[in-house]
Amino acid sequence: MSEEYQPIGVFDSGYGGLTIFSELLKKLPQYDYIYLGDNARNPYGTRSFEVVYEYTWQAVRYLFESGCQLVVLACNTASAKALRNIQQLDLPVHYPNRRVLGVIRPSVEMIPEMTKTGHVGVLGTTGTILSESYPLEIAKISPHSPIQVVQEACPMWVPIVENNLIESPGAALFVQQNLARLFSRDPMIDTVILGCTHYPLLSRVIMKYLPEGVVLLDQGPVVAERLQDYFVRHPDMDARCSKTGRRDYFTTESAGNFDLLANLFLGSDVRSKHIKLG
Ligand code: DGL
Repeated sequence: MSEEYQPIGVFDSGYGGLTIFSELLKKLPQYDYIYLGDNARNPYGTRSFEVVYEYTWQAVRYLFESGCQLVVLACNTASAKALRNIQQLDLPVHYPNRRVLGVIRPSVEMIPEMTKTGHVGVLGTTGTILSESYPLEIAKISPHSPIQVVQEACPMWVPIVENNLIESPGAALFVQQNLARLFSRDPMIDTVILGCTHYPLLSRVIMKYLPEGVVLLDQGPVVAERLQDYFVRHPDMDARCSKTGRRDYFTTESAGNFDLLANLFLGSDVRSKHIKLG
């Protein structure tokens, strides 16, 4: 095992990645972790491809320079818009031995065994929905029995979470509206992918307006399971990730603000450090 501090990096535009991070801590508690939230530049969901890529690459480089050998993009928008460029163009040139993993592929791989009707709904940020990443990836894994995918962008949900308005009447209104729109377009949907890592933080409200019998795909447990498999298949990377149970939190916003909400969402004592990206 590595003697050096070589944590796993977990990146999101804000608090959403904590829904992935908390599952990683449950499943793989022995590793060291850095959580990085780019709260100052959130939301990413309404930004262009170029900007999301630029911000994500800055964050990944920061995590690499902090010792991370492996970074999980705990953000669908970054996975949709930046992951491919980073994996195919940046890593081979700048960091050939480091790895960056996303959240879309592992989620999509769960779908064939979850849906009985073959009709799936995807909720995500405008960026993720417009990228068509989910329909494209789902089509790739089920070429012979095509799965019908209907998407709905929910641009208000991330600001609701980032501003801790989860229990507000506004949250209920937007959740109800977006779900009604999704199901009016395809009442046969029996599985809904929460395709944004912020959304599980709204799950109490979502459950209230979700039609009976419809199941939600929550990415946190899936990503944690897949990372565990990844380490089994890549023992070299596993050996390079240090395991002393240390957790560090970085945010591009004020540390005080971050700690307040991160404590609430994670249910543990978070002391973050303010950093600058770019
Ligand atoms: N949590 C992110 C995602 O999974 C992005 C939210 C945002 O910044 O718009 O898409």
